[in-house]
Amino acid sequence: MRVLCIGDVVGERGLKFYASHVSALKKKYEADFTIVNGENSAPTGTGIIKPGLNSLLTYADCVTTGNHSFRQRGWETLYDDEPFLLRPENMMNGVVGHGVQTVSHGKYTIRVINLIGLTFMGFSSNNPYDVMDRILRDSDPVNATIVDFHAEATSEKQAFAWNYDGRISAVFGTHTHVPTADARVLPKGTGFIADVGMTGPYQSILGVVPSLAIRKMRYTVPTRFSVAEGPCELDAVVFDIDPSNGLCTGVEQVIIRE
Ligand SMILES: [Fe+2]
Repeated sequence: MRVLCIGDVVGERGLKFYASHVSALKKKYEADFTIVNGENSAPTGTGIIKPGLNSLLTYADCVTTGNHSFRQRGWETLYDDEPFLLRPENMMNGVVGHGVQTVSHGKYTIRVINLIGLTFMGFSSNNPYDVMDRILRDSDPVNATIVDFHAEATSEKQAFAWNYDGRISAVFGTHTHVPTADARVLPKGTGFIADVGMTGPYQSILGVVPSLAIRKMRYTVPTRFSVAEGPCELDAVVFDIDPSNGLCTGVEQVIIRE
């Protein structure tokens, strides 16, 4: 079975590009399940709102998020109402929503897990290892377990994936919006990529208008970002998984640019 995982969709341009390419991509790779990170899909490029969520879920089984999950008004209702919208499971206890969901299609059931890293995130959360251990201990068996590990540091994402090598099907990193060239299957059968990348305008800094990002970096003054114009890319990864043991047998990185 195959699982298609798509990088952070940025703004309306990213949503449009996603909507125009995802069906063909699912068909080409014969994807049984599709997961997309939507934490930047609001028109401002931070957070997620209902219309964007609906358009992501038109094609995907689960929408994951991260540190930008809560930037838009009404997020509590959105996370409360929509079972297939995930926020990091290791957020502080008591936050609305959940970060684990099972999805079934035909004969296959997968578990999607959303976690957030501890390093350079500017975000307090519970230890992702403790949370992952608890999920593995308490959950019913499934054909595949896929983790969106939303984190800044590639080393943190590598350490997490290696720690669970052979116990989960795949870990795909999100958050940096920069696709890494390290897609692989780890020795005991966990598929991995440190960062899948993004879906949005690529003549940009992480999807943002360059002059605004430069202003913030150069002068360290508060700056309201807006989503860049111009052509888009869609970054994704496809994991081949053996449904009999949940191990990954192959991984392919996908980058589409207009
Ligand atoms: Fe993020």
